[in-house]
Amino acid sequence: MENNHQVTDAKSPLQPHVLIFSLPFQGPVNCALKLAELLCLSGIHVTFLNTEHIHRPLLLHTHVVSRFNRYPNFRFETIPDGVEHEKPVSADRFMEVMEGIDTVTRPLFREMMISGSLSSRSVRPVTVMILDAFLSFGLDVAIETSIPVVFFETVSPCFLWTSCLNLPTLIESGEVPFQGGNLDELIKSVPGSEHIIRRRDLASFCRSDDLSEPIIDLLLNEARTIPQAQGFILNTFEELDSLILPHMRKLCPNIYPIGPLHSLHKARLKEKMTLMSPKTTFSNSIWKEDRTCVSWLDKQAPKTVLYVSIGSLATITVNQLLEIWHGVVNSGKPFLWVRRPGSIIGGYEESQIPSELLEYTKEIGCIVDWSPQEHVLGHHAVGAFLTHSGWNSTIESIAEGVPLICWPYFSDQQVNSRFVGEVWKLGIDIKDTCDRLIIEKAVKDVMETGGNIFRPCVDGWKILAKESVTEMGSSSMNFDRLINDIRVMSSATKLSG
Ligand code: UDX
Repeated sequence: MENNHQVTDAKSPLQPHVLIFSLPFQGPVNCALKLAELLCLSGIHVTFLNTEHIHRPLLLHTHVVSRFNRYPNFRFETIPDGVEHEKPVSADRFMEVMEGIDTVTRPLFREMMISGSLSSRSVRPVTVMILDAFLSFGLDVAIETSIPVVFFETVSPCFLWTSCLNLPTLIESGEVPFQGGNLDELIKSVPGSEHIIRRRDLASFCRSDDLSEPIIDLLLNEARTIPQAQGFILNTFEELDSLILPHMRKLCPNIYPIGPLHSLHKARLKEKMTLMSPKTTFSNSIWKEDRTCVSWLDKQAPKTVLYVSIGSLATITVNQLLEIWHGVVNSGKPFLWVRRPGSIIGGYEESQIPSELLEYTKEIGCIVDWSPQEHVLGHHAVGAFLTHSGWNSTIESIAEGVPLICWPYFSDQQVNSRFVGEVWKLGIDIKDTCDRLIIEKAVKDVMETGGNIFRPCVDGWKILAKESVTEMGSSSMNFDRLINDIRVMSSATKLSG
């Protein structure tokens, strides 16, 4: 048993020990756990720091503890975040969580790293920190402790480049806040995305007139801190973001594109077949996955089902629910729809729903609270995905060759959906409209005649995604370079304090 309070000899060589600290939301935690497992498989010691409010539902709905028990080089630690909600929060509470992290977690984290359980006084001091780039305060701790930092961003590179790293440029050039109400005007000051990004395609917060909003401050801070880290891990692959990565590398030369992360994770686990017993589940879901939808999918014909989900944070009004529901039903396609608890503002009674929708749904629909999404997207019955364009959902679809109908909700999703429609040609971006006729047409266009238009690109990106995680693929090699760099940084880390 380790004694975490024993003083380490400052002269002894330090074993690589990575601290992973992600944002306490479903998407980032899911990715960070996959990265943690990949590091464990490469023989690196990992401490996974989770804030308390996200750790609770994770323990409740998954087997993460027993799964990671297989790795003697892994341990969980938790830290308070001042978030009192028993259930996972939605997007309207995003800033509340960020404020809790700033006021409650930030000082505790510093103490943990300077004199507590993760400090140089412990048996196994942390030698490298992998932090979500939103947790930029970690950089101050890194400077104080002389521990190298690599940032890990689970949002999209196209968002990071156009709406975060270039936010200072957008403000200086006067393009943000927008002058006049024309959302179709092209953005000119972001290198690499000229002729692609319109005002409406920048991250949602760029639509605000008020530059003093806390979210803008958070993003400007992130833009300042990202280039100061020793490296930057991204969930993408070189080919997918070839438009953006060369520009990003001018600011942050050491980028590790290691995506699709879930595919790399699967590929590396497969190599260790003993870790893939049929009973093992790899869920990192903070809601209970309803696997009955997989049996339902098993009964459907190939590529006939529309999968509908708005992810882990977005919410919709009853009106929007009805527009989408009508559009989906009128398209005539069987559908699997995830309705996350709390995602419909105010909820609804069955009496508010027209009987034809309820009847059709009984006949040819399947509604669940939460699905095993990676499995669903890889199922042969799924023919398209009506999505909120979260980055994880997007890259998971790309990896499985599922065309997209994008109805972005907030943050990076506005940029992702534009790239899906205009750059990667993977589907249709219907942003800023929620109209049953438009939805019906988009579903038909993607799943019927128009499907032929998207199919070559969808299949092409799927092949490139697969190749990137093979032994000599770009993401695989970038990951091996990361491991090597972690070892080098660890051996160069000098304990301070
Ligand atoms: C939002 C952002 O838009 C996203 O880009 C950012 O990285 C995190 O915050 P979110 O709403 O969580 O994202 O969507 P997304 O990034 O798509 O992540 C959702 C995750 O939940 C995916 O990994 C998806 O597989 C999983 N999921 C979703 C399920 O496992 N089951 C479901 O039923 C729905």
